[in-house]
Amino acid sequence: MRLLLFGPPGVGKGTQATLLKEEYKIPHISTGDILRQAVAEETELGLEAKKYMDKGELVPDEVMIGLVREVFNSPLCEKGFILDGFPRTVAQAEALDRVFSELSIELDAVIDFQVEENEIITRLSKRLTCRSCKSIFNTLVDSLDQNGSCPNCGGELYQRDDDKPDVVKQRLQVYNQSTMPVREYYQKSGKLVTINGSGDIDKVNKQILDAIQELNKQ
Ligand code: AP5
Ligand code: MG
Repeated sequence: MRLLLFGPPGVGKGTQATLLKEEYKIPHISTGDILRQAVAEETELGLEAKKYMDKGELVPDEVMIGLVREVFNSPLCEKGFILDGFPRTVAQAEALDRVFSELSIELDAVIDFQVEENEIITRLSKRLTCRSCKSIFNTLVDSLDQNGSCPNCGGELYQRDDDKPDVVKQRLQVYNQSTMPVREYYQKSGKLVTINGSGDIDKVNKQILDAIQELNKQ
């Protein structure tokens, strides 16, 4: 199974990727997670990426394309993958197609999440992420301990630096300007499946599984 999760910040790509990873037993490749790891480790990539991420801007295409090329040239994705957060520009989408063509592989589905902007803003202001196991929570829907530790592993829960309201606003603007055209790019391929990302997490998951099943029948 080769899946691409697409949509604006806060629509639930990471949350659904965790469930899909369990369902299909394939790796979750999140370019945001890879970059945050690099920032935490203060690598050259991390120091460069942080300048853009803190402002809600996109990391330059050449950096991101090189990074994703490296991932796909490793054995990690041989049995399938859930790609989350890439591509975010048409140039990235074209580069990804070139990589897939070199590897003679194709995407099975592009899952396009739709959630109202107001709901996105509320969600991101209440998101907490675990520093250790990277689990994603929301103080609006999850009952969390007063001590602020992760229910799954006991790790420290933190708020992402780019979840500050002004940075969220900028990320949404960048999505509308630079990333929306990627949606049209995939619409032409016939593999784009639009799902309603609002409502219960399990119901959203069921919509995705049903849509994949439907595509597989075609
Ligand atoms: P990235 O980490 O990819 O962030 P993003 O795309 O902005 O998306 P988020 O991770 O914020 O949201 P999500 O859709 O995963 O939602 P989540 O499941 O957490 O990128 C970060 C930065 O890295 C970018 O701004 C850029 O600088 C850089 N970058 C990354 N990739 C790049 C690329 N390809 N090119 C250039 N730059 C790149 O859910 C959000 C919240 O909602 C959580 O609290 C969750 O618990 C809650 N929630 C989820 N589902 C539901 C539901 N159904 N109901 C209620 N609450 C829900
Ligand atoms: Mg995410």
